[in-house]
Amino acid sequence: MRNFAISASILSADLSNLAAVAEGLERAGLDMLHFDVMDGHFVPNISFGIPVLEAIDHCTSLFMDVHLMIQDPIRYIPQFAKAGADLITFHVESNSDPQKTIDAIHAMGIQAGIVLRPGTPWEAVRPYLPDVEVVLVMTVEPGFGGQSFLWDMVEKVQKLHDYLTSQQLTCRIEVDGGLNAETAPHIVQAGAEILVVGSYLFRQADPQAAVQLLREKVAHMA
Ligand code: DX5
Ligand code: ZN
Repeated sequence: MRNFAISASILSADLSNLAAVAEGLERAGLDMLHFDVMDGHFVPNISFGIPVLEAIDHCTSLFMDVHLMIQDPIRYIPQFAKAGADLITFHVESNSDPQKTIDAIHAMGIQAGIVLRPGTPWEAVRPYLPDVEVVLVMTVEPGFGGQSFLWDMVEKVQKLHDYLTSQQLTCRIEVDGGLNAETAPHIVQAGAEILVVGSYLFRQADPQAAVQLLREKVAHMA
């Protein structure tokens, strides 16, 4: 039985009261807080950055899962780590050298992860898999919350999972985008262990019940 975790993407939360959002996530039993950083270049949208991460980190003990959708992630690793990141994931398609970026993240004493856009074959990250704690497969095109799950990604996750198993690599597969109680079981069955949920969670009147339902739906798949 695989160990799996739910990471809440606050992109679709009430950003006018982040302290209350963090408290609500703790109460709802989330395992991680997913923090989406967008620079308006790597993706067409702009979200939030270092000072906002630092502010939320001060109000919660939740594990901070920081997803950098920015053109040159290596430049900002020390600042995000000092602001409270426990895991930093960055895109293999960005301009930074992947190995140097992984090393820079580890030098800050935190976990490193590498991310694939939907159109990037999983083999693009193969050389880095022995060195990262997480590989994040985007299940929507990065940039916006609330998009529909890309079903083709189930096979990609399955292939990646088979490769990790065949090589006895321990890095965990994270998936991000369009996940809900209907889509999550399929991707967990394929090998995902960390599920990012945004609009599914924040659209519900009772997030605690939504998390519980998701856990029940995927429990027997892992
Ligand atoms: C998209 C972001 C996701 C997004 C997920 O670029 O990386 O984390 O917020 O949101 P949902 O769950 O609404 O697809
Ligand atoms: Zn994300």
